[in-house]
Amino acid sequence: MGIRLPFSAELDKGLDWKALLMPKIVIFSGKGGVGKTTITAALASARARLGRRIIVVSVDPAHSLGDSLCMDLSDGLIHPVPGFSAMLAQEPRIASVGASAEGNGSVRDGGDDPESVQRLLGDIFLPASEELTVIQDIIRTWRMLREMRATVDEIYIDGSPSGHMLRSLRFPFRMNEYLGKLGNFLGGIKRILVYDAKKREDLKKRAMVAESFKTFMDILSNPALATTVLVTIPETMALAETERTYEALEAIGIHVTNLVVNKIRDPGSIEGMACPFCAERARNEATVLQQINDSLGSKDITITRVPLLDHEIRGTDALVEMGNFLLDPGRSRDCHSARTAT
Ligand SMILES: Nc1ncnc2c1ncn2[C@@H]1O[C@H](COP(=O)(O)OP(=O)(O)OP(=O)(O)O)[C@@H](O)[C@H]1O
Ligand SMILES: [Mg+2]
Repeated sequence: MGIRLPFSAELDKGLDWKALLMPKIVIFSGKGGVGKTTITAALASARARLGRRIIVVSVDPAHSLGDSLCMDLSDGLIHPVPGFSAMLAQEPRIASVGASAEGNGSVRDGGDDPESVQRLLGDIFLPASEELTVIQDIIRTWRMLREMRATVDEIYIDGSPSGHMLRSLRFPFRMNEYLGKLGNFLGGIKRILVYDAKKREDLKKRAMVAESFKTFMDILSNPALATTVLVTIPETMALAETERTYEALEAIGIHVTNLVVNKIRDPGSIEGMACPFCAERARNEATVLQQINDSLGSKDITITRVPLLDHEIRGTDALVEMGNFLLDPGRSRDCHSARTAT
């Protein structure tokens, strides 16, 4: 007979099993040099200090996560971060697919390994090597998420600068569109194809790749599973790129929940500034901060402002301190204001 509800189940939703199984993924993106790696590592460190099981991974081909954490991650392996009971970090080798698959202990389950996908897609679709690298990035990240879900609570992704990141994230859409069209076309001549075993096998693999991409995008666009944080600085060009990235991500269904405006000089001290250069920069920043509010303040997005500090933020202690500030700027204000650059 099965279980029957004594009322209409129209409004009831099934358990979101993906949300139950997957850890939370937080992706950071923004213009080059704005502080993505620092903010990612800081938040990850502060959350790890609070007892969450964390992995922080760089997907920027020009890794600097290891520099930020003051540890050597250059072998592409997953490393425990010293000073934490449950924090892992990785700079996967992006250029060398084979090394990455071996280096990070990825599950190699045959059909959809990046090399065979690359061959397959290279044969069938776009021979452009950049697009293929993007596919590899996506598949590698997706596999990592799949493997990590049992062992970590939160995954922090230090993203590549926004342009590269957007190309990566848009790619599955173009790909799926293409695969969809191809599927329709091939459906029409299916009877011919079923006689050709190799073509049948290719079709199956294409469907698998398309499915991986779809699941990947489903996860990124599900607010219960993934959050995107944009990082910027109070400069006109950075704001322009932030606005473009915001629009582009929303257009593909990825909701940006947070904006971190980093490296802000204290506007309250402009009048007393002995250095005219610094005063002018601070005045300009105040204008851009107002523009940021006008442009993004009305969106459903939390804006966190971070002061420009008079020192680099590297190593566990500095990162945890910055992370605590990010989690609760009000509480940390006093400790930071004393060391804020003016
Ligand atoms: N609030 C801050 N105050 C002072 N220095 C900062 C602040 N945030 C970041 N920095 C410093 O700015 C530099 C660049 O930061 P980071 O490497 O995090 O930027 P990024 O956006 O990841 O750069 P890339 O695009 O090259 O990956 C680092 O030296 C970092 O210590
Ligand atoms: Mg970086």
